[in-house]
Amino acid sequence: MTSYVENQNISTLSILDLVAMKQAGEKITCLTAYDASFSQLIDQAGVDVMLVGDSLGMVIQGKKTTVPVSIDDMVYHTQCVVNARKRAFVIADLPFLSYGTAEMAIQSAAKLMQSAAAQMVKLEGAHLNIIELLVEYGVPVCAHLGLLPQSINQLGRYKVQGKSLHDAEKIIEDAHKVEQAGASLLILECVPADLATKISQSISIPVIGIGAGVGCDGQVLVLYDMLGISLGRRPKFSKDFMQTAQDIPNAIQQYHQAVKQLDFPASEHSY
Ligand code: KIV
Repeated sequence: MTSYVENQNISTLSILDLVAMKQAGEKITCLTAYDASFSQLIDQAGVDVMLVGDSLGMVIQGKKTTVPVSIDDMVYHTQCVVNARKRAFVIADLPFLSYGTAEMAIQSAAKLMQSAAAQMVKLEGAHLNIIELLVEYGVPVCAHLGLLPQSINQLGRYKVQGKSLHDAEKIIEDAHKVEQAGASLLILECVPADLATKISQSISIPVIGIGAGVGCDGQVLVLYDMLGISLGRRPKFSKDFMQTAQDIPNAIQQYHQAVKQLDFPASEHSY
């Protein structure tokens, strides 16, 4: 199948391309990236989006959680990724407490977009006033709902969210609210597949899932999980693509194809 983007002869993807992919029913592929070498490999494999995630605190820095990651860490790694990127759309995470006030959110987003050339920033939770403010000043925002790793000290452990009717309704409500506040993209982490499908079908912005089933508009995985090299246990929703690949570029290519063809995630990767 020729993809939407191959038809367009596009250099660097924009948010309009991602929306067009949702509308055309083409799955959006996304991987986390933290450095120039992997950025080049992921880009060359044709993966649509690279997320410079604050998961770098765990997989690069060896910390227990994402909480200690600073805005300067995010700027440095986003610069590394952008330096080697040609085609993929680049999103950078706003780290823990870097968007706690309007002023902090503007300053942090300015660093990620001006110093590091991110195309979009991501923040965890339905912080509607902050989303509206950033959007008003021209900052494209990706919202992140479901499991919020920056809230691990409140949650106690990483676990599936939205299992009860009450929690599922709250996530649906928040998804509609972040869309209305101006978010251009939504990441849904660790929620039941039927809930994620319902949300993806009921909002117009693209929904990218991680541990959220095959019904989302796209998928993201932590790069080191899908290469089988993360510290600690790989989550159930991830898959080690190196087990069937000859080398790293081939594993990334296999992931990209599996998402495009709806072969990943399978039911064993879903809740
Ligand atoms: O930081 C990260 O890598 C993320 C993904 C897990 C979505 O936010």
